[in-house]
Amino acid sequence: MAKHPSLQTSKHQRFWKNRRVFLTGHTGFKGAWLSLWLISVGAKVTGYALKAPTEPNLFELLELRKDMISIVADIRDLGRLKAEMKKAKPDIVIHMAAQPIVRRSYKNPPETYETNVMGTVNLFEAVRACKSVRVVLNITTDKVYENKEIDKAYKESESLGGYDPYSASKACSEIVTASYRHSFFNPNEYGKHKVAVASARAGNVIGGGDWASDRLVPDCVRAVLRGKKIEIRNPGATRPWQYVLDPLNGYLLLCERLYKNGAKFAGAWNIGPDLKDCKSVGWIARKFCDYWGSSKTCSIQKGKHPHEAHFLKLDNLKAKKQLGWYPKWDINEALSKVVEWTKAYESGLGVREISEKQIRDFEGFPQLNDAELY
Ligand SMILES: NC(=O)c1ccc[n+]([C@@H]2O[C@H](COP(=O)([O-])OP(=O)(O)OC[C@H]3O[C@@H](n4cnc5c(N)ncnc54)[C@H](O)[C@@H]3O)[C@@H](O)[C@H]2O)c1
Repeated sequence: MAKHPSLQTSKHQRFWKNRRVFLTGHTGFKGAWLSLWLISVGAKVTGYALKAPTEPNLFELLELRKDMISIVADIRDLGRLKAEMKKAKPDIVIHMAAQPIVRRSYKNPPETYETNVMGTVNLFEAVRACKSVRVVLNITTDKVYENKEIDKAYKESESLGGYDPYSASKACSEIVTASYRHSFFNPNEYGKHKVAVASARAGNVIGGGDWASDRLVPDCVRAVLRGKKIEIRNPGATRPWQYVLDPLNGYLLLCERLYKNGAKFAGAWNIGPDLKDCKSVGWIARKFCDYWGSSKTCSIQKGKHPHEAHFLKLDNLKAKKQLGWYPKWDINEALSKVVEWTKAYESGLGVREISEKQIRDFEGFPQLNDAELY
């Protein structure tokens, strides 16, 4: 494994060094960032996913294959998943493999449900057959709540739901997670099984290296790189935006707490930004242009679009109070970091260097709690 001296002082290193991690979805946008961070702090990472979903993609640009075990296989293949997890003997399992795009879920609901629901069932079946596992963290989304289309932030205790197939499939994935936790890894019997199970619901994640289609910030990046207008669909829709390192930092912290305190942290966690960072699609597109330094205008795509929620906000108080996790980078910092990363990529600078620099910047950024902010 390559050493990254620049990151040797990371606060995560004490816990993660030599920790064995099984990460599904490692070839995706968030998975590649998390793999890089885990490798950098000395974890032994085995990734399990289909090949990277876009071209170009961050996983290949970061050349992560040489620093981890990368298995290209389907989460729907239970036999293979069980065999690979047993071979990896992980302490910690983080589940990110998913079909994560709302519009694609309208085009292919069965694929979305098979991957996101049965994929989660398969993951837990593999965990049941693998004696080494101590922590399972399922990564879901802000879209798991029954959206009442009112301007309020959802708490973890609120009803699950989902209008479109993606949101519904992720809500199902939450129900599957809770069912396995109650039935097989019950916190009341933690002493017997020693497995802590949690889920994390992040907001709309932005960051360098995302080329997914039908996502706002990648659409902005493609437009400015091609010198075109930015086309947006729902300018008034608000979303809880956050830079990719903020939720990943929350996942790392949550896994550590689950490993050390088992049953106490089992459950669902909103790992979302502060309410002041829930901005409209139109605001984000305009601000992105300001940071890019271009006067590109936004044009609104006319025509009929599939339903997407208008309001979406997460209440992150539980994570702040109980985990001690706070968002570090606000929306302005987040957008400026997307621009910094993309300009470095565009000018041919090393993607690994800029990504490691951003992790370093993030680690060094002071973590302020609410009392210090107000
Ligand atoms: N990006 C966001 O804004 C956001 C927000 C909240 C939650 N999430 C969740 O975070 C996770 C990662 O999202 P992302 O943005 O990195 O998505 P992505 O599309 O970039 O990556 C998805 C990953 O899942 C893998 N995958 C897809 N189908 C698979 C299958 N059948 N078998 C095995 N692997 C499969 C892909 O190969 C890839 O590695 C997802 O669970 C997503 O629902 C993302």
